[in-house]
Amino acid sequence: MATLRNSSTSNNEIHTQPKLPNDNENLWKQVSDISQVIGEVILFLLKFWFLVGQAFVRLFIPIPPKSVKGEIVLITGAGNGIGRELAFQYASQGATVVGWDINEKGNLETVAEIAKLGYPKAYAYVCNVAKREEVMEVAKKVQKDVGDVTILINNAGIMPCHPFFDHTTEEIHRIMDINVMAHFWTLQAFLPAMVQNNHGHIVAISSVAGLMGVKNLTPYCASKFAVRGMMEALYQDLHTDQKCQIKTTCIYPFAVHTGLFDVKNANMKYPKLTPVLKPKDVAKNIMNAQRRDVFETTIPRHMLSVSYCMKLFPVKALMALNEFFDSYIETDL
Ligand SMILES: NC(=O)c1ccc[n+]([C@@H]2O[C@H](COP(=O)([O-])OP(=O)(O)OC[C@H]3O[C@@H](n4cnc5c(N)ncnc54)[C@H](O)[C@@H]3O)[C@@H](O)[C@H]2O)c1
Repeated sequence: MATLRNSSTSNNEIHTQPKLPNDNENLWKQVSDISQVIGEVILFLLKFWFLVGQAFVRLFIPIPPKSVKGEIVLITGAGNGIGRELAFQYASQGATVVGWDINEKGNLETVAEIAKLGYPKAYAYVCNVAKREEVMEVAKKVQKDVGDVTILINNAGIMPCHPFFDHTTEEIHRIMDINVMAHFWTLQAFLPAMVQNNHGHIVAISSVAGLMGVKNLTPYCASKFAVRGMMEALYQDLHTDQKCQIKTTCIYPFAVHTGLFDVKNANMKYPKLTPVLKPKDVAKNIMNAQRRDVFETTIPRHMLSVSYCMKLFPVKALMALNEFFDSYIETDL
């Protein structure tokens, strides 16, 4: 501190004042600040391009699939279609399967088939995933009967398909409740134990209709876009803690031959280019993505990059592309 005499005070009073930095000190401070920013930017760019490179290499050399033996896999909508096939395939790998569905008969058939094949004991529960209280109640039963769920597959969904004004208010609510809100309720039910054990995997089944708008599917597309956003944000939430070992995977399948909609309503100009998929193949791809910790993928895989590239073009150009392919789902009314 420099000591200065104040002329307005007596000679005995001495005031101390902070020393102002001189030009040299100012310059050094600026140089050091700028070098720090440059250092941080270089470190960030190195990390960024290392991770981009690593992701590129993993496209060709994926990480080996992790074992699911002994894991407890809860699949919503296990009574039919993709959910049922997932149940068979996880059971075949030694996982304990817990199937949830509102369709009790279908769900029991899934479990019976698993028993017939001699896989580990599977469990079936009736649960309407759209109802939060029911989800919480059945989740408690699962915890008591089977244990902590370690892989949660949010698969149950519905797809009413008609022009926007033909969707009733009740139907729009139902689509959002089953296709989106249910994910929140099952996460509230099962994620806390995963966080506590720092072990788990959340899989969400969105759709290609969660990447691009499709005619006659306005509420469905909204619900599937929502699932995509939810999974991206959830990843950020979980991985703010760098030690977090909980993985997330979001899947965007193209049209699949299941009970979701009548495939006869799928209008495709070039069916050979984009064939309707088999639920067995889709389930295989989903399990493969989960076991390899893939963050997101379309089925078929090339559709992901195509859909992201398409976002670079103006909407009218995309409409022209849609007209060219003339692919959409006819109204089911
Ligand atoms: N089939 C396709 O073309 C396709 C394409 C992309 C994405 N998907 C998605 O894949 C998932 C599975 O669809 P899918 O094709 O197997 O359909 P699906 O109709 O064959 O099976 C869905 C299952 O979910 C159950 N379910 C419906 N509402 C429920 C509720 N409220 N609570 C509990 N269970 C309920 C049904 O009873 C049924 O067993 C859905 O989320 C769907 O949106 C399907």
